[in-house]
Amino acid sequence: MSRILSGMRPTGPLHLGHLLGALRNWVELQRTSECYFMVADLHALMGEYEKPGALRDNSINMVIDWIACGIDPDKSAIFIQSDLPEHSELAVLLGMLTPLGWLERNPTYKEQLREIEGRDLTTYGFFGYPVLQAADILLYRADKVPVGEDQLAHLELIRELVRRFNFLYGSDNSDALVEPQPNLTPQARILGVDRRKMSKSYGNAINLSDDEETVRKKIGSMITDPERARLTDPGHPDACNVFSYYGIFAKDRQPEVRSWCEGARKGCTDCKKELAGSVVEALRPIRERRSDLMKRISAEPGYLDEILRRGAEKARDTASETLRRVRRAMGLTRKTAVAAGGRR
Ligand code: TYM
Repeated sequence: MSRILSGMRPTGPLHLGHLLGALRNWVELQRTSECYFMVADLHALMGEYEKPGALRDNSINMVIDWIACGIDPDKSAIFIQSDLPEHSELAVLLGMLTPLGWLERNPTYKEQLREIEGRDLTTYGFFGYPVLQAADILLYRADKVPVGEDQLAHLELIRELVRRFNFLYGSDNSDALVEPQPNLTPQARILGVDRRKMSKSYGNAINLSDDEETVRKKIGSMITDPERARLTDPGHPDACNVFSYYGIFAKDRQPEVRSWCEGARKGCTDCKKELAGSVVEALRPIRERRSDLMKRISAEPGYLDEILRRGAEKARDTASETLRRVRRAMGLTRKTAVAAGGRR
């Protein structure tokens, strides 16, 4: 049975990018695999260490969203990264063998430094972001990691790190770490209303918790084919983000949309209005499940804590065994030290 680990940073409400780029795969994989789903609060802290006030609430809201989207706490271990110190310890150990150049070349690091304004990300913690992510995945000896396209560079670095570990310590310790493979959905890069990658920090996201009116408003503001200035100009659906959303939310309508767009028979405003109806319908069951869940939580205040406690317990069993193997490989096992001392 394959083993899955994935995570998300609790930096705010989940959006369509999270759902379509990763969460949909998580839900599917629960049927066939042993799954671990982690709230990456330490990773969130790397970006938000100056104002960590919302971290706890964001973490809880994220778990609520996961369950509303179909993550089943009876099947999968759901846990909070910082509840398991094993993540921090393995990150320190892996840091010993991670070349600086690999981190300097990391494209996400460079992109975030460039794009994120108003926060000082030139810290030791943020620089080591992929090393902690490596620890997250490797602790569970996960063979598959369901993520969106933006995580591929991290995954590649992590795979190289496993090879380096095995090169250095491998012959007797090849059971310690497993090389993970990424697992992408067909929509591994969802664009936001402004055509840049959908992201909370770009302010271009449609959130899973947005009410109907907000979803309609945001879709109404989506940038369409830039070459179609007037209603009478023929459009280019393949270059239009709205058309690609039809492919996700109303696939059977794509031929009709293509023909009215290319034939300039309907304007972008109407096209977006119709799309909004489909997106609202797709989000409705999630909204309903979230509201049921909220009722359950207010009737049973310990409900989520219990889910997170059980998740952490299951995660710890696997994580502590991996850490034991890594410590042994890197010469940190107490038994070895005593034996070596004895021989001297
Ligand atoms: P994060 O929190 O930025 O995003 C969580 C997941 O959602 C995907 N995603 C998207 N997919 C497609 N289109 C988008 N616009 C979009 N926006 C977000 C991301 O690819 C990701 O799969 N470093 C990770 C968190 C992490 C992690 C891990 C992931 C920490 N440890 C271990 C996997 C395994 C991150 O920042 O994801």
